[in-house]
Amino acid sequence: MFTVAKPSSPPAIPRDLFAAIADLKQELNAIVLAHYYQEPDIQDIADYIGDSLGLSRQAAETDAEVIVFAGVHFMAETAKILNPHKLVLLPDLEAGCSLADSCPPAEFAQFKAAHPDHIVISYINCTAEIKAMSDIICTSSNAVKIVQQIPADQPIIFAPDKNLGRYVMEQTGRDLLLWQGSCIVHETFSEKRIIDLKVQNPTAEIIAHPECETPVLSHADFIGSTTALLKYTQTSASDTFIVATEPGIIHQMQKDCPSKTYIPAPSTSNCACNECPYMRLNTLEKLYLAMKHKTPEIILPEATSIAALKPIQRMLEMS
Ligand code: 13P
Ligand code: SF4
Repeated sequence: MFTVAKPSSPPAIPRDLFAAIADLKQELNAIVLAHYYQEPDIQDIADYIGDSLGLSRQAAETDAEVIVFAGVHFMAETAKILNPHKLVLLPDLEAGCSLADSCPPAEFAQFKAAHPDHIVISYINCTAEIKAMSDIICTSSNAVKIVQQIPADQPIIFAPDKNLGRYVMEQTGRDLLLWQGSCIVHETFSEKRIIDLKVQNPTAEIIAHPECETPVLSHADFIGSTTALLKYTQTSASDTFIVATEPGIIHQMQKDCPSKTYIPAPSTSNCACNECPYMRLNTLEKLYLAMKHKTPEIILPEATSIAALKPIQRMLEMS
């Protein structure tokens, strides 16, 4: 005699997810923070959409009891470090980041130990463990400004993004010791195909995120964080842009200036590799379920969280 396990029924998803999420926001006293690379529906229900710096500022300032973070793990982790006693939800815990993964804590600890006279400035796209080993955190919108504030004779390790690091070296004239990490999305853009697009659209401006490689950046009319790219499309006299960053941001560009044309920069092959596979793991359904069941939540060891808070606070003070 044996029993057959009943197949578990899929979770009930309301028909009007927008209304259901709005109700849950009220019920939980929750704020939804979303990065520009999230799918359009998530951007549209968010209370705040921004780049990593803007999202960190919002997380530091909010008085909501629950933070629902529609972004990737390191971003939600930063919100948790800033709010250790609040519930921070991430719709899909697998939403990681190739750049954060390119800097394993044990190897980085050895690298740091080999250069004891250096201070460590880490790009926010890193794990809480790397933040805990850093002196200052930066984002793509304040990296140049932060490095410029460090005395000229102070050696600096810059981690984990070698492309952003190289860009900061060019902008500041400083010699940085670079950790050799990178982002799979921003390294996928094809310089040749971007030039072909420019030839076909001669009035278009090329705008790029500093995580792109130097050959792509060398063709850019403007380089900046996601927020800076968005602002640039609003203020530039140009009406066409070749956008060398994750194409999720084009949703806001179209909403803000619908009469302009935005062409996603192509990747080296005909794949959708310019879409961040981690950001795209979050969906509106998963966001609803996370709020409904108050899980999955970000949990961090207390010692790591305390050690990681200081360099984030320094960034917020310096930017
Ligand atoms: P921003 O801080 O410019 O939004 O960049 C975050 C990111 O992950 C880019 O890939
Ligand atoms: Fe990380 Fe790159 Fe995705 Fe940004 S686009 S979250 S750096 S993998």
